[in-house]
Amino acid sequence: MNIVVLAGGLSTERDVSFITGDNVTKALRENGHKVILLDVFMGYDEKEVELDDVFDRAEEISVKVDKIPETAPDLEAVKASRKDQSDCFFGPNVIRMCQKADIVFMALHGENGENGKIQAAFDLFGIRYTGSDYLSSAIAMDKNTSKQFFISANVPTPRGIAMKKENRIDELSKLDLTLPCVVKPCCGGSSIGVTIVRNESEFKAALDDAFKWENELVIEEFVEGREFSVGVLEGKALPIIEIAPVEGFYDYKNKYKAGSTIETCPAALSEEKTKEMQKYAEMVAEAIGLDTYSRSDFLMDKDGNLFCLEANTLPGMTPTSLLPQEANAVGVNFNELCEQLIDISIRKYNK
Ligand SMILES: Nc1ncnc2c1ncn2[C@@H]1O[C@H](COP(=O)(O)OP(=O)(O)O)[C@@H](O)[C@H]1O
Ligand SMILES: [Mg+2]
Repeated sequence: MNIVVLAGGLSTERDVSFITGDNVTKALRENGHKVILLDVFMGYDEKEVELDDVFDRAEEISVKVDKIPETAPDLEAVKASRKDQSDCFFGPNVIRMCQKADIVFMALHGENGENGKIQAAFDLFGIRYTGSDYLSSAIAMDKNTSKQFFISANVPTPRGIAMKKENRIDELSKLDLTLPCVVKPCCGGSSIGVTIVRNESEFKAALDDAFKWENELVIEEFVEGREFSVGVLEGKALPIIEIAPVEGFYDYKNKYKAGSTIETCPAALSEEKTKEMQKYAEMVAEAIGLDTYSRSDFLMDKDGNLFCLEANTLPGMTPTSLLPQEANAVGVNFNELCEQLIDISIRKYNK
């Protein structure tokens, strides 16, 4: 097949996305496909170019990827570096190249990519892509909206409130919240802008930091305990992975710096707890409509109560990422998983 692996973009997870994209590209090439790794924002070339033999030049055209820095990328600098400086999110030739592909593998993370807008545009442009559709992506991306879906599907989730920038309240006593609490941007990812607030004096700075990224926040009760993630492929849960940061919580650095978290798969949980969490992950996928693949994050307190934090529609895809580790636990290696995601997604179009 001719495949475009779409990565980059303008989200805070731009760099992480290139690492996913690079790994998926290598795997799909090893599986025998012609694969172009393309930056959705920077595009290919500056003007409209002849694309007839574009997949024969796949390797030469593809983005070359470096190691990921420890901090989030400077997006203003990325924007300033695009030659055409147009308001179009899609870089030069991106739509035309994607239309030439048999399928686009979505290696994007964060804002555009996970929020469903690209999926909606691709539906209209007649472009096939991997993963969830526009509506379920949009629901999962918005932590306030997805929380309502968890509640109506009877999936437990930390009690929380939404706060908009224009209705900002700095005094905790005026809010229906207790300490400790967690402040996070409503539609972010990779723990960017997330703060655990233990004292009232830390609340204002936490709001300042989160509002730097977005105009809407989720503030929810802090759950002290163990952290897990559960992948779901076509409605069926994979083995659970436990994530234990060596220091602090599962923040940006701990997510992407090798050796900073201990990951155990399958997680050391009783059969009963395993089944319960897997069931919740499947219920989340069903409720939101994540019918190809997804990965949901959970916390478990000391009494064994489970809480769903969020559903990720385009989880990280490197051989050591969480979902690939879970697939590996049932004997599906990384290259096979990439191929499965293509197959599952294509099957949806053929229904
Ligand atoms: N209510 C909570 N209680 C305890 N820790 C939390 C809570 N919400 C988030 N966290 C911590 O912050 C991390 C990021 O939060 P999450 O909701 O998964 O957002 P994202 O991964 O999209 O940035 C989690 O992996 C967890 O370590
Ligand atoms: Mg998360």
